[in-house]
Amino acid sequence: MEVRAEFEKFYDFETDALVVTVYEGEKADEGALKEIDERTGGIVSDMLGTDEMRGKQGDMVYIYRPGNMRARRLLLVGAGKREDFSLDTVRKVTGSAARFLRGKGARSMAVLRRSQLDLGKSAQAATEGALMGLFEPDMYKTENKEERRIDELILLSAAPGSEAELAQGVECGRIIAEAVNMARELSNEPSSTLTPTELAERAKETATRFGLDIDILDEARMKELGMGALLGVARGSDEPAKLIVLRYLPDGAEPMGNDADVIAIVGKGITFDSGGISIKPAEGMEKMKYDMSGAAATLAAMRAIAQLKPRINVIGVMPTTENMPSGRAYKPGDVLRAMSGKTIEVINTDAEGRLILADAIAYARKIGATRIIDLATLTGAVSIALGPINVAILGNDQQFIDEVRAAAREVGERFWQLPMDEDYRELIKSDIADIKNSAGRYAGTITAAYFLREFAEETPWVHLDIAGTAWENERKPYMAKGPTGVAIRTLINYVCNHAAKR
Ligand code: BES
Ligand code: MN
Ligand code: ZN
Repeated sequence: MEVRAEFEKFYDFETDALVVTVYEGEKADEGALKEIDERTGGIVSDMLGTDEMRGKQGDMVYIYRPGNMRARRLLLVGAGKREDFSLDTVRKVTGSAARFLRGKGARSMAVLRRSQLDLGKSAQAATEGALMGLFEPDMYKTENKEERRIDELILLSAAPGSEAELAQGVECGRIIAEAVNMARELSNEPSSTLTPTELAERAKETATRFGLDIDILDEARMKELGMGALLGVARGSDEPAKLIVLRYLPDGAEPMGNDADVIAIVGKGITFDSGGISIKPAEGMEKMKYDMSGAAATLAAMRAIAQLKPRINVIGVMPTTENMPSGRAYKPGDVLRAMSGKTIEVINTDAEGRLILADAIAYARKIGATRIIDLATLTGAVSIALGPINVAILGNDQQFIDEVRAAAREVGERFWQLPMDEDYRELIKSDIADIKNSAGRYAGTITAAYFLREFAEETPWVHLDIAGTAWENERKPYMAKGPTGVAIRTLINYVCNHAAKR
């Protein structure tokens, strides 16, 4: 899809569809709406304020061949209260419009700029909204998909603005949305296709294409390093585990020395989680192909970072394996020795994510990370606590947590902090080893985070539990159901913000 800006009167602009936002309670008595009303024989003023269109978010009115203007279709989209209008509204409105218009056979769409929001940022949000909105997890559908697609998104402004600002916004939006969609595609892949080896292959392609360094550790190297936790989980599978390590080094920067600030992103890459010997029930197990969404997010963020080029060192660490039952699988009661030296009693082989992350976090520290963000589809409990709405954020450094939360808020993602009182440590004490991998029913998301904290040790660390938010079960007007790519835009924004601050 091509995205560009035009500075023209909306009624003179030839396009398949003109998209115009309507605020809640708005009348057609001034500006663009008045002009549209006059050119359509008064239908806009007639309809506004009725149940056809109240301007609430999600309201839509579609007119084919609207009166006296060159657009072949007019789509009015409710944008909610004017005072609440934000970049996130731009993203959602553009996404909803793009999805709707694609269904009507439109090939081009022009979105009329009506707000006073920053030009470049609006262009970025609109680009993200359209590209993310149009994503479909349909790679395995054999019907002809070429017939329905939007080729052109035009950002239409009455008043000329800075071309450079616009172009830069569009470029950033494209980089970010394409990275997010790549992650969504990976999460959607069946585990038979996307094995740990294949994930490593895809990471290699991404690294080559975007100029990232990559190191893929095989099981022999993990063994040398003493990664007993990651290897323990991998034992039940015939597919060999991989530890994928990506490095981004800004142009001309000093190689990562001892005192360099290095952000590590660590993502859980379970390509299929059967639960292992503590096997999961059959119902819904097919979804466990997306248990690598943290790793996919890590790869996506690294890809975008390589293109956006913030001035900071970033590493991406993706531990990846299947979690399978077999005659060789690790079992409840086993004791694993993690790379850090800590011993772990396995209570439940389905609590595998924290085990692979334990060694990945320790490895990130070993290779120089000075702050760590891990993200994982880690616990079912996070869905109980926060539903499919908020990502759970926890950590050992309140300022760091606050910075990541602020980064999330800026890009319209919702994160909610859960507590980490010392008292929770009790729950992961083992009778026979240093800690155990499952603490039972209470505070499942917190005890999982507490487990990880033991491996982050003194390094500032933030944990994101995306198990409830990485897969959308409900179709949204602005987004297909399926993998969401949650947290990626936040990660990118955090890294760029942090780099700019120093
Ligand atoms: N991958 C799952 C978490 C999950 C559950 C993600 C549902 C998405 C949807 C994780 O490995 C897991 O099985 N966690 C267990 C931990 C328990 C055994 C302590 C859980 O949440 O039930
Ligand atoms: Mn599991
Ligand atoms: Zn899992």
